[in-house]
Amino acid sequence: MSDTHVAVLAAGKGTRMNSSRAKVLHHVAGRPMIEYVLAAAAALDPRSTTVIVGHQADAVKEALAGRQGLSFVVQEPQRGTAHALLTAETALDGARGTLVLLSGDAPLLSAKTLKTLVDRHRATGAAATVVTASVSEPRGYGRIVRTGEQIARIVEEKDASPAERDIREINSGIYAFALEGLFDAVRSIAAENAQHEYYLPDLVHIFRRQGCGVETVVVSNPEEIRGINSRSELAAVSRIVRHEKNAELMAAGVTLEDPGTAYIDAAVAIGADTVIRPGVSIEGATTIGRDCVIHSGTRIVDSTIGDGVTVFNHCVITNTRLADAVKVGPFAHLRDGADIRDHAKVGNFVEIKKTVFGAGSKANHLAYLGDATVGEGVNIGAGTITCNYDGVKKNQTTIEDGAFIGSDTQLIAPVTVGKRAYIGTGATIRKDVPADALAVSAGKQRNIEGWVEKKKKRRD
Ligand code: UD1
Ligand code: CA
Repeated sequence: MSDTHVAVLAAGKGTRMNSSRAKVLHHVAGRPMIEYVLAAAAALDPRSTTVIVGHQADAVKEALAGRQGLSFVVQEPQRGTAHALLTAETALDGARGTLVLLSGDAPLLSAKTLKTLVDRHRATGAAATVVTASVSEPRGYGRIVRTGEQIARIVEEKDASPAERDIREINSGIYAFALEGLFDAVRSIAAENAQHEYYLPDLVHIFRRQGCGVETVVVSNPEEIRGINSRSELAAVSRIVRHEKNAELMAAGVTLEDPGTAYIDAAVAIGADTVIRPGVSIEGATTIGRDCVIHSGTRIVDSTIGDGVTVFNHCVITNTRLADAVKVGPFAHLRDGADIRDHAKVGNFVEIKKTVFGAGSKANHLAYLGDATVGEGVNIGAGTITCNYDGVKKNQTTIEDGAFIGSDTQLIAPVTVGKRAYIGTGATIRKDVPADALAVSAGKQRNIEGWVEKKKKRRD
């Protein structure tokens, strides 16, 4: 195992977000921003990973509960980044080697840069190595003050002189430290600054004064170290993540007709020769096969879609499986365990919930199918409704292979329609229908001749 340890700062309130939610839990392309940071850190195969939480500590811990190998320490109150690191001292007691310190609000950092940081830090034997970047717009970041080639100190924007504010080289808030003697040095930091906080970047000056080595790694792509402090930075970073995701998909053979309006989360997989039309959202753990067309205005969440599927405009598809060559929409709503089998057709204004819809079956217009099992080759007429809810519990409807459900049928569940059975238009089906039977329940039609004329006379 390596002798690299990781600590992630995630205790701050994120005042500039104006949010009741902890900043690091805000989503970037479908995932909390801190997830990106932890994924990059995991590439270092660290011996330990400590997350420093504070503001909304429980919510942050809960959001990360699925991740293995994390330990949490609580910083309360939050007195600055140096104070935050001090709260991890006990957790790191006895640890040797290198501590990589990351910010939970900088999600674009690559694993490659982190490896470069650790390698450089080890090779030079420095007490601290700081990841920096030269940017055209340094506002909001700490500035790197150098004497000659050497980094001398870091000055925060609020404490910087006008000349220092002109410096374009910024602190990423990402560092490698030698653990030996680190916490003694951190303890010597004072809060004598504009914000009366304990600034971790002050370590640079402290180490240099002690004659310890401090090195820098300058990233070539400054985007990588962008921090998120406000909603507009959240949007800007999300745009970068989506842009990269879209580029990756296009390189792999997916057509995005307008990448600027394709909102595709980081975890989504899409097969070659699938076409994504403008204005589509594909979210969460969604997989889409090859040769599909997803038309505009559609939102797909946590769903699995096979090959050769067409989703017409304005469909909402969540927690659903679509097998191969299925056609859906326009204006369909598939949700909560809808399972649509090969070559099936689900047309406009059809809602399907927790229902297996068999191969080659059709519900072309205006239907609700909930808690049902529909066999193969079934025809569901317009206006068919499974009345699955009796006011207390949900009941099952079973429609077997080859059945034909006439338009405007209500199926009062629990109920079964047998194989190849026919149901006449406008039926209310309360009893099971045997295989090969015809079920009718609509009242007999009666015509009253001359009724309109008589009604008129009555009114006069
Ligand atoms: C910090 C750096 C700045 C750098 C910038 C890069 C300091 C003083 N400044 O500024 O030099 O350019 O990051 O993005 O470090 N946090 C805690 N506990 C606290 C305070 C903060 O855990 O008491 C966490 C925050 O949740 C956040 C991270 O530390 O994840 C950085 O804090 P933030 O307030 O965003 O610092 P910046 O002002 O961005
Ligand atoms: Ca920040």
